Amino acid sequence: MRIDVLTLCPKLVDSALSESIIGRARRNGSLELHTHDLRPFGLGKHKSVDDTPYGGGPGMVMRCEPLFEATEKILATELNQTKRILMCPQGRLLKQSLVRELAREKRLFIICGHYEGVDERVREHLATESISIGDYVLTNGALAAAVLIDAVVRLLPGVLGSEESAQQESFTDRLLDGPVYTRPPNYRGWTVPEILLSGNHGEVEKWRMNESVKRTQKVRPDLLNQPPCAG
Ligand SMILES: C[S@@+](CC[C@H](N)C(=O)[O-])C[C@H]1O[C@@H](n2cnc3c(N)ncnc32)[C@H](O)[C@@H]1O
Repeated sequence: MRIDVLTLCPKLVDSALSESIIGRARRNGSLELHTHDLRPFGLGKHKSVDDTPYGGGPGMVMRCEPLFEATEKILATELNQTKRILMCPQGRLLKQSLVRELAREKRLFIICGHYEGVDERVREHLATESISIGDYVLTNGALAAAVLIDAVVRLLPGVLGSEESAQQESFTDRLLDGPVYTRPPNYRGWTVPEILLSGNHGEVEKWRMNESVKRTQKVRPDLLNQPPCAG
């Protein structure tokens, strides 16, 4: 998959996505990540990308010209067939179901806001969708983009060591994962449930499902009331 990110903080995106599994996905070509610095597309001698809000109010607003011109230049003939995502706290909430949807795309283009926000014409006429990573406000969209990319890329074929780990995890089938353990079987008197040491795969599976349901009921009962695959 190819992902382009347009941001004032390209290094932040790049460094957040250089380590571990996503770093390996980049090295082996599963992810082709291109970060683009918006600054050179800024206006005038100072390459300005923002201005004061019409009507007054606090903060600076990102101007539309640099964002439109950069996006159109980078995507060129692929503009119309590429999903153009604006990272925005007011966008559609990023859930595993949306992550799965995005993982089916061949290419994504992500626009990161900064300051007080982005001129509304970007949302209306440039982005094809706005996505929020949660109900809180970050200083800019770079880390939000990195979170989205991490979640999407780990679903691409061959990125995780075992395909199963992406299929049997939290938010699949409206359930959270149950508890997991590894060696030692007894640490400071805290023991691993007997059943996991029994070697009885059928019983282990039943136990896991039961724990998964119990945990979901306890900490996220709302998930159980969602339609199947709503993530
Ligand atoms: C300080 S925020 C702007 C917040 C805006 N004034 C508001 O209240 O909705 C600056 C930029 O950070 C990014 N951002 C902040 N929080 C985010 C979130 N929860 N999800 C996605 N992007 C976010 C967006 O790109 C946004 O344009």
